[in-house]
Amino acid sequence: MSRDGFGSKLGIIAAAAGSAVGLGNIYRFPCELGNNGGGAFLLVYLLIVLGLGVPVMLSEFVIGRKTQKNPIGAFKMLKPKSGWPIIGYMGVGCALVIMAFYSTVAGWTLEYIVKAVGNQFKDKDLATIEQEFTAFHDIGWKNVLWQGIFIFLTAFVVFKGVADGIEKYSKVLMPLLVVILMVLAIRSVTLPGAGDGLTFLFKPDFSKITGSVLISALGQAFFSLSMGMGVLITYGSYIKKDDNMTTSALSVTLSDTLIAVLAGVVIFPAAFSFGVQPTAGMGLVFNTLPMIFNQMAGGYYFCIIFFVLLAVAALTSTISLLEVIVAYLVEEVHIKRRWATVIAAVACMAVGVFASLSLKSNTSLTIGGKSIFDSLDFVSSNILLPLGALFIVIFVGWIMGKSKFFEEITNGGQLKLSLKGVIYFIIKYLAPIAIMVIFISGFIK
Ligand code: PHE
Repeated sequence: MSRDGFGSKLGIIAAAAGSAVGLGNIYRFPCELGNNGGGAFLLVYLLIVLGLGVPVMLSEFVIGRKTQKNPIGAFKMLKPKSGWPIIGYMGVGCALVIMAFYSTVAGWTLEYIVKAVGNQFKDKDLATIEQEFTAFHDIGWKNVLWQGIFIFLTAFVVFKGVADGIEKYSKVLMPLLVVILMVLAIRSVTLPGAGDGLTFLFKPDFSKITGSVLISALGQAFFSLSMGMGVLITYGSYIKKDDNMTTSALSVTLSDTLIAVLAGVVIFPAAFSFGVQPTAGMGLVFNTLPMIFNQMAGGYYFCIIFFVLLAVAALTSTISLLEVIVAYLVEEVHIKRRWATVIAAVACMAVGVFASLSLKSNTSLTIGGKSIFDSLDFVSSNILLPLGALFIVIFVGWIMGKSKFFEEITNGGQLKLSLKGVIYFIIKYLAPIAIMVIFISGFIK
């Protein structure tokens, strides 16, 4: 069977960055940072991303490109008649779980586009904006409707195929998102009282570093880089044989991290200036941003453009998630792409409805005291992704072995990579140990 592939080298960077950059950077990163001690979280996060980002991402790319298969098929091919394909199944399951709650928030970006166009934030104070955001969650059908529309849009792009579907959207709009974030950052840091926000974001208070901060930072790093569940194996399978995967992994890791930090510089100074608590969770982003636009020349237009770009950034991420499920159904279960897309979308919606409805104020949709939304988020980011990444690096380091790994990242010896020994060392020893230590520390109180 012939498979879709990306057109150019920029294609894979754009697509992988498209998957990486999304609500994880702009919505989830500030939430996690705000709830986990500010600067201390940032420091741990950066160390994890710099130390593990490229090696783990590269491991996934290598598995994908070497086998040219979906995550399950890839492990079946590399280690036939073994338990390793379970990692692939875990990835497909994880894609479903992430899709379920991610599409809830993605749906809000559409609601916010409509609000922005209708100029509905104008001159409102923080209390009113906050109250309207809470009231919106209580209108269950509206949340579910936007979520459904978002999943439908995702399915539409995925159905059109990988090459012309994903690449086109990522190339142009992502740089634009960076530009807008920079403009917002300038507005935010010049607000009165902004300095406290910058201190919160950048000044680490080491006493705040606990096991749960470590695991949150680890989970956020993997979530933000789309690592540990097969998205990058799937995308890796579309990388051409003469591409330099190491520099691709580096570009994706750096741009993703830059955008997250930039989002922090937008959110926290403004939040402190307006009096939004750093622990406000979703409100941190969805309430602070409209307040910033209210304080800006041309705020009306910036607000619309921003939420459109945020929706697109979310879309290029949901596309990658759905693609994992679809690639599995097409290649392993032998379902036609059209039907595979429909089945995957319906499954995401079926679970997703519970995530959306669990955010109502009087909800009974909770698991162990947490809303279903929060539970799905927690299980995927803090448990499934670290476990997935752990098994992936163990597989590359210990099962696949050095020579095959080197052969793949140097394109059969054509590329000279002076750091390849270091990268392999990290994959084989450092990454598994670091992930295990952090993982275990997160569960010891
Ligand atoms: N990395 C995406 C984001 O930051 C979310 C994502 C996680 C996508 C895992 C795919 C896999 O928005």
